[in-house]
Amino acid sequence: QNNVPNTFTDAETGIVFNSWGIPNGSPQSQGGWTFGMALPSDALSTDATEFIGYLDAAGWCGFSLAGPMTNSLLITAWPHEDTVYTTLRYAGGYAMPDKYAGNAEITQIRSSQNSTHFSLVFRCKNCLQWDHNGSTGGASTSGGFLVLGWVQAFPSPGNPTCPDQITLEQHDNGMGIWGAVLDENVANPSYTAWAAQATKTVT
Ligand code: HEM
Repeated sequence: QNNVPNTFTDAETGIVFNSWGIPNGSPQSQGGWTFGMALPSDALSTDATEFIGYLDAAGWCGFSLAGPMTNSLLITAWPHEDTVYTTLRYAGGYAMPDKYAGNAEITQIRSSQNSTHFSLVFRCKNCLQWDHNGSTGGASTSGGFLVLGWVQAFPSPGNPTCPDQITLEQHDNGMGIWGAVLDENVANPSYTAWAAQATKTVT
């Protein structure tokens, strides 16, 4: 995936994202994925605590906000019928991650899906510093550089309509850690107005 971000504007919401991804058709992942991030206007000088995320993927996908699977806040997302579900997770080892115990929260701005892919635009509040039962860490935006991790997989989660109780098999459609450079387009004066559109809670 790219390290230097692409910048794109989501047509439906007008939100401007820095994005990284693997194109559909590449050997690392069938279907490909895109992860985008928008940050508060001062995020390149003061560490942000939240972001607006964009993701587009096939199957289910997961992102680590520190890079590795372990000791990092994990976002897992999957489509089921006409809804995209998410769950925030945390893993002490390479096994089914626990439900994250801290106060982070995902609310949705929009989602869509077709026969192969789903996409989601969401606000992730309190997601850039974490505390899972005393295991703490964070992702610092003021350095203009994040280390992020991705996974993608095809077998649908078990209990798909109940994010707290999903079951997963080990991901089977690629994984990796990448350095995500942030450029000036990631921090936007419209962030507060965009974040206010995140009114949909899917639990
Ligand atoms: C890597 C197992 C769920 C994120 C790995 C690896 C294993 C593993 C064994 C290392 C593989 C290697 O290096 O060859 C599992 C199992 C899961 C699970 C058994 C569930 C039953 C998840 C979820 C996420 C995730 C839900 C994110 C939301 C990652 C990431 C990596 C990874 C980012 C690559 C970075 C690293 O090696 O730490 N996983 N995983 N995993 N996993 Fe998982």
